[in-house]
Order: sequence, then structure tokens, then C-alpha cells
Amino acid sequence: MILTMNSSPILFALLILLFHFHYSSSSFSLSVENLEQDIIVSPKRIFTAGFYPVGENAYSFAIWFTQKHKHLNDATIVWMANRDQPVNGKKSTLSLLKTGNLILTDAAQSIVWSTNTASSKPLQLSLRDTGNLILQEHNNSNSIILWQSFDFPTDTLLPQQTLTTFTKLISSRSETNYSSGFYKLFFDNYNLLCLVYDGLEVSSVYWPDPLILDWQTSRSTYNSNRVATLNRFGNFSSSDGFTFRTSDYGTVLQRRLKLDFDGNVRVYSRENGQEKWSMSGQFNQQPCKIHGICGPNSTCSYDPITGRKCYCLPGYSIINNQDWSQGCKPSFQVSCNNNNKLESRFKLLPHVEFYDYDYGFQKNYTYKHCKHLCLRLCECIAFQFRYVKNKGLFNCYPKTRLLNGRSSTKFGGSLFLRLPKNNSLFSHENSVEEDVNSLVCLRNEGVKQLGRSYVNAKENGSLKFMLRFAGGLGGVELLGFFLVWCFLFRSSKNSNEDNNGYVLAAATGFRRFNYSELKQATKGFSQEIGCGAGGKVYKGVLSDNRIAAIKRLHEAHHGESESEFLAEVNIIGRLNHMNLIGMWGYCAEGKHRLLVYEYMEKGTLADNLSSNELDWGKRYNIALGTAKGLAYLHEECLEWVLHCDIKPQNILVDSDYQPKVADFGLSKLLNRDDLNNSNFSRIRGTRGYMAPEWVFNSQITSKVDVYSYGVVVLEMITGKSPTTGIQIKDGEELCHERLVTWVREKRRKGIEVGCWVEQIVDPALGSNYDVKKMETLANVALDCVAEERDMRPSMSQVVERLQSQSASYLIVFTN
Ligand SMILES: *[C@@H]1O[C@H](CO)[C@@H](O)[C@H](O)[C@H]1NC(C)=O
Ligand SMILES: *[C@@H]1O[C@H](CO)[C@@H](O)[C@H](O)[C@H]1NC(C)=O
Ligand SMILES: *[C@@H]1O[C@H](CO)[C@@H](O)[C@H](O)[C@H]1NC(C)=O
Ligand SMILES: *[C@@H]1O[C@H](CO)[C@@H](O)[C@H](O)[C@H]1NC(C)=O
Ligand SMILES: *[C@@H]1O[C@H](CO)[C@@H](O)[C@H](O)[C@H]1NC(C)=O
Ligand SMILES: *[C@@H]1O[C@H](CO)[C@@H](O)[C@H](O)[C@H]1NC(C)=O
Ligand SMILES: *[C@@H]1O[C@H](CO)[C@@H](O)[C@H](O)[C@H]1NC(C)=O
Ligand SMILES: *[C@@H]1O[C@H](CO)[C@@H](O)[C@H](O)[C@H]1NC(C)=O
Ligand SMILES: *[C@@H]1O[C@H](CO)[C@@H](O)[C@H](O)[C@H]1NC(C)=O
Ligand SMILES: *[C@@H]1O[C@H](CO)[C@@H](O)[C@H](O)[C@H]1NC(C)=O
Ligand SMILES: *[C@@H]1O[C@H](CO)[C@@H](O)[C@H](O)[C@H]1NC(C)=O
Repeated sequence: MILTMNSSPILFALLILLFHFHYSSSSFSLSVENLEQDIIVSPKRIFTAGFYPVGENAYSFAIWFTQKHKHLNDATIVWMANRDQPVNGKKSTLSLLKTGNLILTDAAQSIVWSTNTASSKPLQLSLRDTGNLILQEHNNSNSIILWQSFDFPTDTLLPQQTLTTFTKLISSRSETNYSSGFYKLFFDNYNLLCLVYDGLEVSSVYWPDPLILDWQTSRSTYNSNRVATLNRFGNFSSSDGFTFRTSDYGTVLQRRLKLDFDGNVRVYSRENGQEKWSMSGQFNQQPCKIHGICGPNSTCSYDPITGRKCYCLPGYSIINNQDWSQGCKPSFQVSCNNNNKLESRFKLLPHVEFYDYDYGFQKNYTYKHCKHLCLRLCECIAFQFRYVKNKGLFNCYPKTRLLNGRSSTKFGGSLFLRLPKNNSLFSHENSVEEDVNSLVCLRNEGVKQLGRSYVNAKENGSLKFMLRFAGGLGGVELLGFFLVWCFLFRSSKNSNEDNNGYVLAAATGFRRFNYSELKQATKGFSQEIGCGAGGKVYKGVLSDNRIAAIKRLHEAHHGESESEFLAEVNIIGRLNHMNLIGMWGYCAEGKHRLLVYEYMEKGTLADNLSSNELDWGKRYNIALGTAKGLAYLHEECLEWVLHCDIKPQNILVDSDYQPKVADFGLSKLLNRDDLNNSNFSRIRGTRGYMAPEWVFNSQITSKVDVYSYGVVVLEMITGKSPTTGIQIKDGEELCHERLVTWVREKRRKGIEVGCWVEQIVDPALGSNYDVKKMETLANVALDCVAEERDMRPSMSQVVERLQSQSASYLIVFTN
């Protein structure tokens, strides 16, 4: 029996198809030749399943969001049965066999795909409004799911669909080619959700950042049940502790999470009935850290304004200018003979890093040593030479492959590229280098376009620039960028008509606001909720009804240019950590400078400490979370940001009592190498929390934050404020002692007795705390407030010590 759908409403209602077997071997089939009618539509018509054209005379059986119009070419595909083996446009069918197997046949000949199911009971194939295609068998009372498309995702995860141990997302090859690409999202053997580049020759994990240890990413490897889901409200959460909220979190929208062909995971959302999607969140903030995006022998560079670009190394030329992932090949003869030694020269490429594929690594080598080592090795095509700052020496990394290259002024090392001595590069370097720099990264397509309509033809130059910039700030580019741009463009044109304000903000996590908008949001800056370094903070309601904390910075000085402000804000906006307050945007207009942050209804740690709201467990979590946030600020690979004003007023608490550090980045942003900048040796911060270095005018390092953090922790433990000091009786006289000195003395005197902790703990806690953990916390805090800068631990060491406490308890509990 051949079942043909037409679009009568009655048939839609019957789309949950119940088939009983009669005489033929196939109970039901859909034909590619009838693709407009042979479709399955979900009850509310949200999703459609059917044959979808993926190339010339090439079709895949797919599920997509139902379109209003019937152009099949630009549907949003969420699943594909045969992405790597499209079928012919003639005589190809999807059939449900009598045996219970659902098969896809190519040109009435070979089976290219099947569910491998078997049953002799009545079967039901249905497409749900969740986007799940389900094959069920029925007996009198029960129905059993034999197979469902949710268990075999392609590159998209829909709300209510879980990523598990057994499933992974695999990106498409390009924007228009749906074949399996190079990027995968899955749970690794340590139960961590990770992104891997699985290229033709090599594979490597690029998220979480391989240079950052697991605990620094706030992930937990303890949890062995592996699940990750995106819910309807825009909350993505994974069993390893990674969570992530979309910028439009809280609203019920159509959503989809997609591993895009460029290796980034993005969440797109739209309102029911809308056509265009907007990007409402993404995993990777540093586009050049996605491996393989610029292929072998090329480097990636990223600029918030112009986006991501790939460049061939000097002396190399592009292999396929439609597809950068293939990389570049040498334009010179590569020979490996004994005379080679004499014929090579090295070209210096400053701030260029090639990740991994080192031929060993040599500690404490001079440039000369390193060069000779490379020359001796026939396969050595370059070497990385890197200064190790804290040791005062250079390390040498000979390279036999040049993969995952990126160029960043933040990177302290250099690459020395081996080239033949007679290479024309060495005779007139400049002209060639200009050529190299003019190579622009093309979009990663490589196949014929199927008439997609993402880019709006009418573009306004200045608007385009602004949106591009806003997009770039969030690290959006390529596909994401075009979607965002288009969306913003569209909605900014008619936002008055459709009043779809959420769309504007939803498109990127981060945007530029205009002054009048923020003035309106804060009702003329009427509700002041705080006053800190740099300016006052107001509560406001944005046009999308999100509640925001809007900080109005002191008006710009004469010398301070808008571009400097934008550069700084760009860096702050890219910092993204669960223990840092989220920044939604900014405004720079004339002399106005404003920052828009998420609003924390529970207020600051200071409020809650004074109102005695925090029990011991919450205090410990706040100490740990704050440390994580600061460790990220100090040590995250690319940036180096000192806070310089850690105090309870700058630590906000969310509804789960997770701390979020606010006001970071307001002190001037520092590069690692700028620490001696004399402009920093002036007093800042808040009395009581300030490290001695400020007073003694010595060099300022991240250890100033460690000190302030230590004071805050002591305050949480004791409930005593460091600004007022402790009243003690010295003989007959009452006098004030610094909190730090007081605790230190208690420990010194109490260590023999063995119960010093009890003497300092906030009386409000009573005895409801864990003495051992409390002692660890107090000891860590005292180490943090060491007068001698170098004696203080780093923030990541603090995290480690606090976490090892939690971990050992975790083990105790689970045993
Ligand atoms: C998609 O890419 C794959 C792998 O590169 C290639 O084999 C296939 O021909 C491409 N498909 C189309 C329709 O271009
Ligand atoms: C129907 O399915 C249930 C659950 O699998 C099973 O226990 C029962 O035996 C089945 N009944 C028939 C008639 O097959
Ligand atoms: C997100 O989902 C996770 C797991 O379901 C949950 O623990 C977390 O509280 C949720 N977050 C929000 C903000 O809803
Ligand atoms: C990259 O360059 C090396 C040597 O310079 C060469 O052996 C290799 O084949 C190149 N890679 C590609 C993909 O061409
Ligand atoms: C590095 O090497 C030099 C000379 O080879 C040696 O004097 C110096 O002690 C070494 N430094 C370290 C830290 O090993
Ligand atoms: C460099 O020398 C090699 C071998 O001697 C030769 O094949 C090549 O053409 C020369 N290249 C240039 C640019 O002179
Ligand atoms: C582009 O936008 C700017 C500012 O929004 C406006 O002044 C200008 O007239 C626009 N140009 C066009 C061609 O629409
Ligand atoms: C500010 O932005 C809002 C919304 O984007 C817009 O309606 C308004 O015209 C803008 N005002 C100015 C002065 O540009
Ligand atoms: C924290 O303090 C704020 C302000 O005093 C208060 O509104 C909030 O309820 C406190 N948090 C809790 C959980 O009590
Ligand atoms: C930075 O300052 C310290 C102490 O003031 C000094 O010893 C060191 O040489 C300086 N470093 C640089 C690179 O100027
Ligand atoms: C310090 O600031 C002054 C003006 O604010 C500036 O001219 C000078 O270049 C700065 N010094 C450094 C080392 O950045």
C-alpha cells in the first residue's frame, strides 16, 4: 500500500499513521518523486519529515521546521537519515517493511539506510511536535518505542532531546553541504562534554581549552551519567556541570542547538510563526581556538571588527581557495637531503603559535641551539621559540607539522619558519608579505549554493558596521554573523511594528545600546541601587523586559577616546564565567559611558552578610565560587585582568547562592607584560581590603586581588568587618585591631590548644559548621593575606585547596 499525503486538514489529523499488515512486503512508503506530497507533518505542523534536496539530483530523508512557503531549499533541517549517502531523485523510497524495518532505498536498488528494527506487531510511525520521529510497535495494551530519531542526532539538538553516552553531534561539512564534517560534540571518557576537531589526518580536542585543567573549567568528572539537554527556556546543562543560558533565557521560544560547520556550538531561537532565527548563545568565544578552521600551514587571526581570517604562511600558497580547511602547501621544493642544512633560512613570525605536534620540546635553549636542532632534523619545518617568564629562560619546540596556527598579540612566543635560502622572500621581503596579508579568508563552502537567503541585499553601510561590530564582540562570525546581521537588520527596521524587542537583544549576548534607550530603561536614572568605583548603578528594565543593572561611568575625559573604551569593553564582554557577572552590553555616545549587566535580585554579599542570611554551606560555596571567578580573570589563557577592588559589595549572589564577581575589568586592563606600568602604582581599592603593595607603592600583580579575597573570606568566617576593626581589651584600654592581625594572632596562640577556629567563627553560625573545612578556609584566607606578595597563593591554587576539601567530602558521601 502506498500512502500519499495531500494537504487536506483531515489527513493532517491522521498523520499518526497506524499500519496493519496486509499482503505486500511493504506496509507504507514515501517516494522521492512525490516529495511535495509525501511528507509527514507533526500534529501542530511544527515539523515536517520528507525528502529534501541536498544537491543536484541528490536527496536525503530529513526532518525540518515546517515552512510557510513551499521552497524546500531553505528549510531549517534538524535531522537527516542519510546525510552521507544522498539518494537519487528517481525511484528512491522510504518504506516501512512488514518485518518492522524502516528502510531508505536508493533508486529502487540498494538500501542506504535503515532503522534495523524488527517486529511482527502493528506499527506506528509518527512525527511529534518535538521534532522526534518515532517508530512504535503496538500490542493490545502497550506501545513500545522501537526506534526514534532523537537517539540518532546529526548536528542539531532540540529541546527535550538529550545528548547521552551513546550519541554525539557531528557538524556539517559546510553551510550548504550536509555531509558529516570535522567537528564533534560528545562526552569523552572522563565524562566531560567536549568538542573535538576530527580532521582528515589529525584530531584534537579544542573545547574545553586543552591548556586549562578540568577543575579550572568548573567541570566535574565525578558524574558518570552523561546527559546534556537544552530546555525550552534556553537553559543548556550538562552532567559535568557545564551550564549555559541563552541571552533570551526565560522565554518559551522555538529553539535549536547546533554544532555549526565552523566548529562552534550555537543556540538559535525564534518565536513561533517567525521565519528568521536569531543566535542567542554560543560555546566558543575565541574563534581562532577552534582547531582545523584554518588548515595546515596557515594561521588564523581574529579581530572583533573584521572577524576571523586565515592566512597562508609566507612561502606557502592556498590549496583550495573555496575551502580554507585544506590549508596551504609550500610553494618551494621540499627536499630532505644532507645538503639541506646549508640551504635553509628561518623567517621570524612574531606572536604566531602553532598548537601541538611538537617534535619533543627542549627546555632552556638559546635561539642558536634551537636553530641547529631544527636544521639537523630533516622533517623540522619550523620551530616555536618561547620565553618562559617566571623561569627567565627560553623553550624550544621543533615542529614537523604546522597545524592549528593562530596569530595573537597576546601570545608571547614566536615562530621561526624554515624556508630555502634562495627563497624570494628573503630578497624583497616586504612586497611578498603584503601579498600574504591580502589573502582573505573565504567562507568555508566548497559546494554549489542551494539558494539560501540569509543575507539581506539592502544594506546600510553605517548600520552594517555597527552590527558587525556588535556581532564581532560576541565572537560571532561566518554563518552566525550573517544570521545575526540579517536578523538585527531586519528587526531594527521594523521593531516598531512587530514590537519584537526580544529579538534585538537575543541576537547576540552582547550589544550596543543607545543613550536614550538606557535613559528610558532606567526611567531617567531614577532607581539607584548602588554606587561603586567608576560610577553609580541603576536598576532598569530593557525593552525586552529583562531587568538590568546599568552602571553609569563617570563622564569621559577629554583624552579618552571612544575606541579605547570600546577596546576595553570588548575584552570585558568576552569574559564569560559562571562566577562573573554577565555583561549584556554597553553604551558609548558622546561623553556618556554606560555598562549594562545582568541584575542580581539577591543583592550583594555585603547585604547578606550583615543580614545574617548565610549559613555555613553557603559561605563556603561563595568563597569557592568567588575564587573560581577570580582564577578565571587572572589565568584564563588569553586575558589577564586584575580586579583591584575585591570586597563584599562587589560580590553578588544569585538565587542559588552562587557568587558572581562584579566590576571586574573596570580597573585598567592589563596585559601580562604591562605589570610594571608605573601608572598602576597609585592607590586604588577600598580601605580594609587593600594589599600592602598599594601603600608601599611596589609592583602591582594579581596578588593584590588574592589579598583582598583573603580579607573577604576572613570577613565571611568571622562576621567582622575589616573596615571598622576589632575591638579588643588590652589591659584596661579598649583599642581597635585590624581583622587580619586579630585572626593571625588567634591562630598563633590557639594552635597549641587546637581550637583556634572556634574562637574566630561568626557567633551567628553557632556550631553549625564543619570544623575541618572551616579550618582549611581560614588557613587559606590567612595565606592569602600574607604581607609578602610572593608568599600568597595564586587564585587557582586557592581553588584547588578549597576544592580538594569539597572533593574529599564528596568521596566520603558517595562511599
Ligand atoms: C559534500 O562534501 C563531501 C565531502 O567533502 C563530498 O564528498 C560531497 O560530494 C559534497 N556534497 C555536495 C552535494 O557537494
Ligand atoms: C504487550 O507488551 C507488554 C510489554 O512489553 C508485554 O508484557 C505483553 O506480553 C505484550 N502482550 C502481547 C499480547 O504481546
Ligand atoms: C538549568 O538546568 C539545570 C539542570 O536541569 C538545573 O540544575 C539548573 O538549575 C537550571 N538553571 C536554570 C537557571 O534554570
Ligand atoms: C604543509 O607544509 C609541509 C612542509 O612545508 C608539507 O610537507 C605539507 O604537505 C603541507 N601540508 C599540506 C596540507 O599541504
Ligand atoms: C640554562 O642554561 C644555562 C646555560 O646552559 C645555565 O647556566 C642556566 O643555569 C640554565 N638555567 C636553568 C634554569 O636551568
Ligand atoms: C632555489 O634552489 C632550488 C634548488 O637549487 C631551485 O630548484 C629553485 O628554483 C630555486 N628557487 C629560486 C627562487 O631561485
Ligand atoms: C544609514 O543609516 C544611517 C544612520 O542610521 C542614516 O543616517 C543613513 O541615512 C542610512 N543610509 C541609507 C542609505 O539608508
Ligand atoms: C535608540 O534605540 C531604539 C531601539 O533600538 C530606537 O528605537 C531609537 O530610535 C534609538 N534612538 C536614537 C536616538 O538613536
Ligand atoms: C540578601 O540580601 C538582600 C538584601 O538585603 C535580600 O533582599 C535577600 O533576600 C538576601 N538573600 C537572602 C537569601 O535572604
Ligand atoms: C619591573 O619592576 C621590578 C620591580 O620594580 C623590576 O625588578 C623589574 O626589572 C621590572 N621589569 C621590567 C621588565 O621592567
Ligand atoms: C601613564 O599615563 C599618562 C597619562 O595618563 C600617559 O601619558 C603615559 O604614557 C602613561 N604611562 C605608561 C607607562 O603607560
